[in-house]
Amino acid sequence: MANSDWSLDDIALDRVETERVRWHEELFLLLAGASFVETGSDLYTRNLVERFHDDADVSSWLTDHWQPEELQHGRALRAYVNRVWPEFDWQAAFAAFLADYSRSCTEEELERTHCLEMAARCVVEMGTATYYRAIRDLSVEPVLGRLVGFIQRDEVRHYKHFYRYFNKYNDIEHNSSRTVCGALARRLRNILPNDAECGLWYPFQARNPHASRKGPEFRRAVGRAKALVRRHYPAPMAIRMFLKPLALPPIVDRLSYGPARLAQRLLLR
Ligand SMILES: [Fe+2]
Ligand SMILES: [Fe+2]
Repeated sequence: MANSDWSLDDIALDRVETERVRWHEELFLLLAGASFVETGSDLYTRNLVERFHDDADVSSWLTDHWQPEELQHGRALRAYVNRVWPEFDWQAAFAAFLADYSRSCTEEELERTHCLEMAARCVVEMGTATYYRAIRDLSVEPVLGRLVGFIQRDEVRHYKHFYRYFNKYNDIEHNSSRTVCGALARRLRNILPNDAECGLWYPFQARNPHASRKGPEFRRAVGRAKALVRRHYPAPMAIRMFLKPLALPPIVDRLSYGPARLAQRLLLR
């Protein structure tokens, strides 16, 4: 599969129509938060590479392709945020975020087998691919639309890699659908508390130094940001990607629409 076919040079930061986005508080939180999670993704890579050290194919893809691409997402989003909100001290807020985020990215968070961890990674890539699709669809600023379009394509490609590795290991492990479903549900439950909310808090705190993480101001801001994403969320795409590792027969796939909607609500809770 092809690797990322874009670079920061393809993002025309000098053409950003700042006035179309600068006022947008929720977009600031969503983009700054995403830049933090992407930039911190090497923590996950380290855990994964250690887990898959006995598989040269997987560990070399993680190290040589996946990690550099996730870090490029972080750099590109950071550059955009700096362009539109130059007063935001990205580095200071990221340092605070990383100290917090690194505590949740430990080896214990990984699934117990290679196959189940690959299923869980599919959920994470489904989450990012659908998140950036929503941001792309809500974007009123052309440079941002182009940037998140690039990132979204990468995330879909990452999903395809992890799905291929999931199948490779499932041919060895022969997990039941119930076992795979458990791994999917566990990672889905962990996405928001560990990533998104942590990512939103530190940009919010930078602008609201007296606010508390449990207080009403931040709760309201999170609610507004989630509502914005929810309005543009590509539900059919999320459902398809979430259910794919279960390899359900077509009729069961259709009957599973209800549980998949539930999964979508969990993702956006
Ligand atoms: Fe990414
Ligand atoms: Fe990704």
